[in-house]
Amino acid sequence: MKRFFVFTLILLSLSLVSSAKDVKVTSPDGSLTVTVGVDDGKAWYQVMRGNEAVINRSELGFVLKNGDLKDNFKMGEVTRASVDETWNQPWGEDARVRNHYNEMIVRLQEKSGMKRYIKVVFRAFDDGVAFRYVFPRQSGLQDFVIMDEATEFALPTDAQAWSIPALTPYYEGIYTREPVSRKGNMSGPVALEVNDGLYMAIMDANLTDYSTMNFSHEGTTLKADLVPWKNGDKVRVENTRVSPWRAIIIGRTAADILLSRMPLNLNDPCKIKDTSWLTPTKYVGIWWALQKQRWTWSQGDRHGATTENTKRYIDFASRHGLGGVLVEGWNYGWDTDWTKHGDGFSFTRAYPDYDLQGLCKYARERGVRIIAHNETGGAAQNYENQLEEAYRLYESLGINTVKTGYVNSHFYNGELQHSQWGVQHFRKVIETAARYHLMIVNHEGAIPSGIQRTWPNLIATESMRGQEYNAFDRRGGNPPYHECILPFTRGLGGPMDFTPGIFEYRNDSVPGTRPQNTLAHQLAEYIVIYSPGHMAADQIENYEHQPAFKFIEDVPTNWERTLVPHAVMGQYVTYVRQERGTDNWYVGSVTDAQARDLALSLNFLSEGKRYQAIIYEDGPNADYRTDPYAMTIRRLDVDRTTVLNFHLAPGGGCAIQILAE
Ligand code: NOJ
Ligand code: CA
Repeated sequence: MKRFFVFTLILLSLSLVSSAKDVKVTSPDGSLTVTVGVDDGKAWYQVMRGNEAVINRSELGFVLKNGDLKDNFKMGEVTRASVDETWNQPWGEDARVRNHYNEMIVRLQEKSGMKRYIKVVFRAFDDGVAFRYVFPRQSGLQDFVIMDEATEFALPTDAQAWSIPALTPYYEGIYTREPVSRKGNMSGPVALEVNDGLYMAIMDANLTDYSTMNFSHEGTTLKADLVPWKNGDKVRVENTRVSPWRAIIIGRTAADILLSRMPLNLNDPCKIKDTSWLTPTKYVGIWWALQKQRWTWSQGDRHGATTENTKRYIDFASRHGLGGVLVEGWNYGWDTDWTKHGDGFSFTRAYPDYDLQGLCKYARERGVRIIAHNETGGAAQNYENQLEEAYRLYESLGINTVKTGYVNSHFYNGELQHSQWGVQHFRKVIETAARYHLMIVNHEGAIPSGIQRTWPNLIATESMRGQEYNAFDRRGGNPPYHECILPFTRGLGGPMDFTPGIFEYRNDSVPGTRPQNTLAHQLAEYIVIYSPGHMAADQIENYEHQPAFKFIEDVPTNWERTLVPHAVMGQYVTYVRQERGTDNWYVGSVTDAQARDLALSLNFLSEGKRYQAIIYEDGPNADYRTDPYAMTIRRLDVDRTTVLNFHLAPGGGCAIQILAE
């Protein structure tokens, strides 16, 4: 990958600091300061913004199988560095990302006993702080097992936290808002509304060969709660000698949280040299009819993945300029209870009514690619065993994207998706896929933590309650505010395969279950929820002759720049995004169950240029409960002096295309 470092400045200096003295590192703009100290053998850090405590004194350290690494520390040498670089993304919410921080590495040395040491690397950015542990190999600290991480995040007040419960299967939960003190254990990212000028999110960044960090808490102090192996070990530290980053994004507004690129900056640079094959695209699929139980994955009268059905989907994609067709249920393994018999999945053998070779050719001739689907039913080892052979086959057929799935509460070996074993498995899949030029869309995965910077062939992950719940959820579907909180929480870790674009509100299989929002809201999801390869998730019949479908045809999925003019966590959010490499802009705005009238200044448009805006908005009577379909489409000449006013119905949304003339 070409990476242009616009400006790189690295300063290194070494200073020895006496153990009695606290040490500090301040963000480049001087606003945030991390102080680190050791008192009575306990190591701690604290974060201040001016005179305001953002994180009170919070403990650092570990409980290990062979003796704790806490309570017995003294501070050793302190090293410092500063970095200011700008790097390019092959795809993303912004084409260029500035990585600007001051770093301080603190050595924590045991005072007695084995006299082992670890290092803690602190980075102070203007938009937050982060730290990670380093475990240098030494006698007494060769391969070892972490039983608990002592890391704390002591909040200054009982902030309102948006989170889902820890260990929610596949993170497919509904985010709720409560004071931290009233929450149970939580999964990250946790989004925090502390006060009118202080918003935060705490999360894993660069989750590699380690277990996922959930949070327990005592009062308002959050504590890292690592997901265990089945024998109770938390992390086995062998080859990888660093923890993930503990990232604390800090903003004055809720929008600041969305615009932070800290999670990406804390990940390693891209490991894929030639990124020209990374061409994520919008796609349709043999999918929604399966969720609605009209078709089946398994063989029989209603088998969905037939050659005939797939051809219709390919023709449709080709006609409408969509680059992909996802096909689920094409391979052997679906005919039993596959969550119990996942070992029966073959990832190379197609069902007799599915012409694997012929369809790949048919698609290619029409400028479309088949997206292969690999459901494992949790039999991850069965998948690993077939990985090379399957991926070799896909590459030879011109397939360039694979959607993976792990529907099961545990893997077959008893480990959890978000355990260290799970994290290792998912990484193995991504790295193997990269060798075969395959992009991965991962369902039921570990929590995303910005690793798409390093492995941009991981184009999207689910790890959230996606649109599919609007087909099968017995409680009616996702609540209207769902997409108003996803970007502030799960979305911080990376692209979401949410599968937007449901046009049909009728449901025969689970009557009453349907999107709890309007058609204009469905369109706005393409902007508000970020993915470089969004699905047009509905059955293709439901898009025919629908004027609103034009927006889905036109909306890009790769952006030059992203702005967030309106944002209140869980209530409403507006994104403005500039199409990569053009002067066209797109706006998406969604609200919860409350109607709103918003004003948007178009002052981001170029000086002296005229544009045409095409506005897809809720009609006068639109309401997610009574008339989700009502939509008006209007055109307007605009320039950078224009202020656009738009109305959001209850559960509503607005999607706007602004084209340069
Ligand atoms: C759950 C996934 O989220 C969904 O997209 C898929 O269709 C089913 N599993 C079957 O693999
Ligand atoms: Ca799922």
